[in-house]
Amino acid sequence: MSSTSAAATLDAESIKPVTGWSGDADYFVVREHQAFEPEAVLDVLRGKVAGVIFRGMVKPEDCAELANRFWNNPNRQTRGVEAPGYYMGAYTWQKPTAQYLDETEQIAAALDEYLDVPNNPLDTFYGGLADALAKEGGTVRLAQHEGRQGCRALLRSWHGQGEYALAPHDDNSQLTQPGQVDFEIQKVGNRPTGALNICLENGNGGRLAYWNIQADVTSKTALGVEHTGSPYPMASLEGIEMKWVEVNAGDVYVFNGNHVHAVEPNTDPSLRRTTLAGMMGFIDDRTVVTWT
Ligand SMILES: [Fe+2]
Repeated sequence: MSSTSAAATLDAESIKPVTGWSGDADYFVVREHQAFEPEAVLDVLRGKVAGVIFRGMVKPEDCAELANRFWNNPNRQTRGVEAPGYYMGAYTWQKPTAQYLDETEQIAAALDEYLDVPNNPLDTFYGGLADALAKEGGTVRLAQHEGRQGCRALLRSWHGQGEYALAPHDDNSQLTQPGQVDFEIQKVGNRPTGALNICLENGNGGRLAYWNIQADVTSKTALGVEHTGSPYPMASLEGIEMKWVEVNAGDVYVFNGNHVHAVEPNTDPSLRRTTLAGMMGFIDDRTVVTWT
């Protein structure tokens, strides 16, 4: 999410393409569905396919309502100075477990109020996922720690400048953060980290850039991203297969965030890209936990 890292100080000439695991042509696709099929999400969480996208799952009027409620919300926060991003909700990135849970508690009531809409897409998504898991004796729930719970969702709107609105990164490395060794989300380990994005508005651009590489520890360590997953310098991704995923308002997608990915910037900064997002993964054979 940020760009502070030892990688920034590395000499670009010395950066080699990252090495790691790449999937075959059957795996490295983002499957398209015209309706919600929660079983397809389980395929992502089990590493059978890289991603899945449900086109137009959220109706335009519901997207507009949720976007409006975000922009008009007094609890919306600003992050960064030059190209500020806006968010609402807590995030785990580079925080001790207790701090994340404190911040989750501070924003919980505002998020509940925000999500109190007739067609809350998070309820539709997790309700469907819970039903699919129940058929095989599994469950999905918020991540827990000492009787406290992780955050339901994170709203984000990034207006990054430069080549990407959100620099190339992976979502799995942060599950080794030293400050969170006590948090159960780290039990996801090397299993797929499912990145859920519910696109509320997308201006222009705003595609997902998705590389067919899960970097190995050697590469992550060389780039200084072993506990953060960010950023991967562009030079480190040269020659690696990459696909663009077109995303429109109303689309809901889940992809394996262990792969390096980035977000294309809008070419018109007055247009907004806003998503309702969360992370999820299996912590054992039957239990999916979610966090933000
Ligand atoms: Fe990500």
